[in-house]
Amino acid sequence: MEYLFIGKHPSIEKIRDLIAMVAETAFSVLIIGETGTGKEVVARLLHQSSNRKSKVFVKVNCAALPMNLLESELFGYEKGAFTGADKSKPGKFELASRGVIFLDEIGDMPMTLQAKLLQVLQNGEFTRLGGTADVKVNSWVIAATNHDLDEDMAAGRFREDLFYRLNIIKIEIPPLRERRQDIPLLTKHFTKKFKREYKIKGQFALDEKLRKLFQLYHWPGNVRELSSTVLRLLVGDDPEAVRSELVENMDADGIPVPDEMRPAGQQDGAEKDKKGREGDALSLKALTADATDYIERRAIQHALSMTGWNKRQAAKMLKISYKTLFNKMDRLGLEKRPVP
Ligand SMILES: Nc1ncnc2c1ncn2[C@@H]1O[C@H](COP(=O)(O)OP(=O)(O)OP(=O)(O)O)[C@@H](O)[C@H]1O
Ligand SMILES: [Mg+2]
Repeated sequence: MEYLFIGKHPSIEKIRDLIAMVAETAFSVLIIGETGTGKEVVARLLHQSSNRKSKVFVKVNCAALPMNLLESELFGYEKGAFTGADKSKPGKFELASRGVIFLDEIGDMPMTLQAKLLQVLQNGEFTRLGGTADVKVNSWVIAATNHDLDEDMAAGRFREDLFYRLNIIKIEIPPLRERRQDIPLLTKHFTKKFKREYKIKGQFALDEKLRKLFQLYHWPGNVRELSSTVLRLLVGDDPEAVRSELVENMDADGIPVPDEMRPAGQQDGAEKDKKGREGDALSLKALTADATDYIERRAIQHALSMTGWNKRQAAKMLKISYKTLFNKMDRLGLEKRPVP
């Protein structure tokens, strides 16, 4: 699988350069960024750019498991180490030896395990749970977090010595709202990608209002949120509905919304008066077109699911020709087969 780290913003260019440099060294890397900024993408690119690329990339989510399970997951155990340990098992650190161990959500690792991790980083060895023999490993440690580790250290939740040991190379990915120039580029990238992946035919472009809103929106879920929003629009979600959702999120997070971005009917009275009748007439036309699209899309989707995606039968049910059905599906950007 190929991982792409799209972006022309200087911060992204810098990260790209850093990846190329660090990949040769296998120094520990700490990747910091909000959710959805591409931390895992960067980790996988580091692996792929390194001479360990033919070796494994082992991911451990440090937030997903309770402490005991996380410990045995990372370091493995010997037979009889605890009830139910009826045979010995190597941990992820051993499995990742000569490859990469990606410690995701490292900020959520319990303090006692942080001590054990520090020891591995310092000596390259540890013992399995219930074991006595030292296990030697040579795993490249790449860690990621969306926490503010300075804050966690100040609050005594994260060990300072571990931080300095991990932080040899720090890669900070800025949130999408701080690199807005990349939004059109990423939108284009995801459109192309999803059209290919889901075999979506026809042209697709954001309407002017959504395009503007994409530039203003604060993208709390960052690139992941942008990608899922593009996908929703591609598979035929109503652009108006998407727009009002984004506006709602902005309102909820206290981000100012220019009036013209609000769906009709939600704008300030003053703004509406200013536009007068002509504005209303125009938006009514747009609304009608949108409503028609919405109804058509729903009707087609319904007919398709009723007929088990038999397009001839669906066309019959809708009392339109097979060709018209095809054209409509193209125009509405609808899938030609069920989404898996
Ligand atoms: N610069 C980018 N170019 C292309 N795709 C990207 C980029 N950044 C992120 N993505 C895509 O966005 C999604 C989220 O990225 P990723 O999983 O790496 O985020 P993350 O920082 O690990 O998020 P989380 O903290 O929630 O785990 C993925 O589908 C990824 O492929
Ligand atoms: Mg992640």
